[in-house]
Amino acid sequence: MSAKIKIGVLGAGSMGSGIAQVAAQSGHEVVLTDKSLTQLDSARGNLDRTLQKLVEKQKMSAEESQAVSDRILCSTSMADFEDCGLVIEAIVENLEVKKKVFSDLEKICRAECVLATNTSSLSVSSIAAGCENSGRVIGIHFFNPAPLMPLVEIIPAVQTSAEVLSQSKSLIDSWNKITVVAKDTPGFIVNRVARPFYGEALRIYEEGVADFATIDWAMTEFGGFKMGPFTLMDYIGNDVNYAVTDSVFTAFYFDPRYKPSLTQKRHSDAGWYGRKTGRGYYDYSTDKMPEPNRDKVLGEKIFFRILVMLINEAVDAVFLNIASPKDIDLSMTKGVNYPKGLLQWANEIGPGKVLAQLDQLADEYREDRYRASALLRRMAAAGQSFEFK
Ligand code: NAI
Repeated sequence: MSAKIKIGVLGAGSMGSGIAQVAAQSGHEVVLTDKSLTQLDSARGNLDRTLQKLVEKQKMSAEESQAVSDRILCSTSMADFEDCGLVIEAIVENLEVKKKVFSDLEKICRAECVLATNTSSLSVSSIAAGCENSGRVIGIHFFNPAPLMPLVEIIPAVQTSAEVLSQSKSLIDSWNKITVVAKDTPGFIVNRVARPFYGEALRIYEEGVADFATIDWAMTEFGGFKMGPFTLMDYIGNDVNYAVTDSVFTAFYFDPRYKPSLTQKRHSDAGWYGRKTGRGYYDYSTDKMPEPNRDKVLGEKIFFRILVMLINEAVDAVFLNIASPKDIDLSMTKGVNYPKGLLQWANEIGPGKVLAQLDQLADEYREDRYRASALLRRMAAAGQSFEFK
């Protein structure tokens, strides 16, 4: 891939239009296509408004903003991808639809064009299986909103060639993004490691230990998280967050560690998605938010229980070679704004102390959900800490 190849983006929804903006701002000619003309018109309008705001905030000159806009060609025809060096797909999250689209792309694009998917939950290897030359297919997973979030997960399918992996990583690095390489497994890094932030908080609520406001307070007060789990789920949308949890749980052959919560399911069933519907765990029709119980002992207990579950997930991801310790910590600080990398946190607390809390939970509940990673056990026994090379 040469530095200034033409970039194709398929799907002009929230992710596709954001990715098109990032590529055009990095100096590439971009072809943005969608099957819906209405969607394309709306994406063009949104893009131009965003660029205008950047000018108003003096983050970009008027000439530059015009040049970025001019570099993006909107089209309803995938045939315009013909001379692209990379095409990033960001259409509906459906395996059969994506496989068909990749098979069509293969017929349109040049042999050396890399075909990437922005899927957040499907297997990249399954999508690649839709192509004859599956070695040129890779996952390039941006976070929402793509122009603002620095992290991009690069996911080689089992079929992806080493050359396509290194070319794709260097290209996205050159777009001022922080790239991490993840194995093609459910949730990749962020959507796997972050599960207990939501799941354990919901479980604590279900047990009647504390209410939403108190759990949120515990995580912001003692953990330094920018938002508590319930505020964050209301922000993401309970429908979206539940769907991710459910898909990770199913894809992991129903491993109890990833079991979804009935509380979240019922909130989703009721249409209480969160901010976008005016009601989620909190009621947004009023300015009056419930007050937490600011009991320090309770707060610290809640925080530590959720933290050890998060650390265990991060350690297990290292154990199973999902990514390097450095990339796992980068993912959580740059992809979901955690105040500290979870493995760094494990080092500071000490693997032995983390393990003791997990073992206490496992002992009490006798549920596989609380099983400690074998790596955590080994590290605690050897008195080791994580290294970030
Ligand atoms: P969206 O629903 O906003 O946009 C999808 C677009 O694809 C629509 O404009 C639709 O008209 C178009 N489309 C659907 N089928 C098509 C086809 N066969 N050919 C051409 N265009 C087609 O979806 P969103 O949120 O932008 O997500 C897109 C992809 O990015 C999904 O795979 C999703 O899992 C992934 N993703 C989403 C994130 C998010 O927070 N929304 C974050 C990271 C990844």
